[in-house]
Amino acid sequence: MHLIGALAVLAWLATASPTSQYSEHLQLTQRPNGKVGAHFSFSQVLDGTKYHALEAIAHEFGVASLDLAFTQGKAGGCKALNLDGIECTPAGLVLWAWLDNDLSPPLSSQNSSDFSSRWTGLTNALAGTFCASINQIVPTKVSAEPRESFRVDGVDPEKHWLRYATLPREITCTENLTPWAKLLPCTTKAGIASLFNGYTLFDADYHSMRVRLRKQCNSASLKCEIELHQDLIVILDPVRKNYDRSINWSLRLLFEREITGLCPLDVDGSQVTVTLPGGKNANWYGASEPVKDSTGNFVFPLELGKRVDFGLTYYDQEPVRDNIFVPTIQLHRHLTGYGRERGGFNLRLTNNDPTAPQSVTLLEVLPWYLHLYLHTLQTTTTSVSDNTRILATPNITQRYQLSIPRSRPSILEFSLALPPASTTTIHYEFDRAFIKYTEHPPDANRGFDIPPSVLTVHTEKPYRIFSEILLIALPTPDFSMPYNVITMTCTIVALYFGTVFNLIVKRLEGLERIPPKKAWWKFWMKKVDEVKEKTE
Ligand SMILES: *[C@@H]1O[C@H](CO)[C@@H](O)[C@H](O)[C@H]1NC(C)=O
Ligand SMILES: *[C@@H]1O[C@H](CO)[C@@H](O)[C@H](O)[C@H]1NC(C)=O
Ligand SMILES: *[C@@H]1O[C@H](CO)[C@@H](O)[C@H](O)[C@H]1NC(C)=O
Repeated sequence: MHLIGALAVLAWLATASPTSQYSEHLQLTQRPNGKVGAHFSFSQVLDGTKYHALEAIAHEFGVASLDLAFTQGKAGGCKALNLDGIECTPAGLVLWAWLDNDLSPPLSSQNSSDFSSRWTGLTNALAGTFCASINQIVPTKVSAEPRESFRVDGVDPEKHWLRYATLPREITCTENLTPWAKLLPCTTKAGIASLFNGYTLFDADYHSMRVRLRKQCNSASLKCEIELHQDLIVILDPVRKNYDRSINWSLRLLFEREITGLCPLDVDGSQVTVTLPGGKNANWYGASEPVKDSTGNFVFPLELGKRVDFGLTYYDQEPVRDNIFVPTIQLHRHLTGYGRERGGFNLRLTNNDPTAPQSVTLLEVLPWYLHLYLHTLQTTTTSVSDNTRILATPNITQRYQLSIPRSRPSILEFSLALPPASTTTIHYEFDRAFIKYTEHPPDANRGFDIPPSVLTVHTEKPYRIFSEILLIALPTPDFSMPYNVITMTCTIVALYFGTVFNLIVKRLEGLERIPPKKAWWKFWMKKVDEVKEKTE
């Protein structure tokens, strides 16, 4: 029986392996502050031999490249992990896609109705696939068409059409994780995905779920394949979960699960890698033994049907502060001004590289209810070491799209070169619109989340940095007034009704006089009666 089963698995592998190239990897990184970063990465090649939901969507809407991220929490912990090729997106949902424009002649920007309907179709399909409100990305209202940002290798901007949108208030939850995990060939039954546990993943300080899709076409055979990468990044805090407040964690403590063995479709074998600060060692315990690899990381290879569970205690007497990662380019955005009428943004772009200038593109997509004043735009560049020394103003090339109320956002795109070891500050001001009362969200006084600015750093491998999401309060009518009126009216009606109801329904009866008992009382009442008689 076992032999037949094994043969069946082998036969299945033999047919499956040449078509579906699949690989997965889990990287656990111990941070000096006690947090543990877990990066689950899964990649597969979809070549049309088996049905896959995302492949069907990509073919239907002519998607050449798509990036979708669902994120919760602050991106700081993710940035410190320094994940190669992974951008630390801010909270909410970020989606950008390049759609094919291979019609001849290519559609111009004047004739975008076809693209709008395809983009709407794509967002609706993704909304259905991931159980998220991606369908709220109304083509004109929130979507933008940047020119210089989001360039992808192998995608010709002349022959493709780019759309970018964010939903900063989108909340990510288990209902998004389940469909996301279902896109994996082994789902959560085997492989590293068997660690997925909604309770622990969504308890993390930061978690981000990604889908990256790239279409690769062979120009000779005209055959297209789709590369699908799925990444899940979580920053867990085992010290918070631990009773003795020390760095002592295991897969069981982090995820309340263990790995059930290798996913059989991952023919090259996969592993769990653990990186400790400064390449130091830890005390290991549990069923599985680590192997130290050439880079100083600890590796747990996965095998078919063999459970993996391990734990470690880590204590660093002399933590190395020097290897705390500082990104070369940093971007921060702050709100300036006060009141609910006007305001401004301050953007700080820092180039920490002491020798090389850096060419970047900054993209701001602002909702129409912030009226931007381009004449207030100011740029200053100062040296990092000496904040007062003003360096040459960078050469800015800018593109600006004016917003149209209720129909399109304003887009500001700058290309500039950041001098070495410098901080560039960009400041501009805006007015806040007084919007209709029906346009306010149900919790009107919370404010509006302004999408992050995006900085594209043009290096050999261009990457993007996202700024903070800002919460902006618009002039808000006193929504509590109707409730005050209702409360007061109800109170008055209740008081009036009670009194009138009492008068109508209750019969008035005199109290029976209780015979007096005490001598002084008898005497007193006798006197009262006498006086009464006399006066009558
Ligand atoms: C845009 O395309 C549609 C159909 O593809 C066509 O009917 C329409 O005339 C075009 N509009 C312009 C301005 O070219
Ligand atoms: C680490 O935690 C495990 C399980 O919670 C426990 O058995 C072990 O004694 C702990 N080790 C240390 C050094 O505290
Ligand atoms: C500024 O940039 C533009 C476009 O890249 C270029 O044409 C121009 O020569 C630059 N000016 C300076 C002073 O470098």
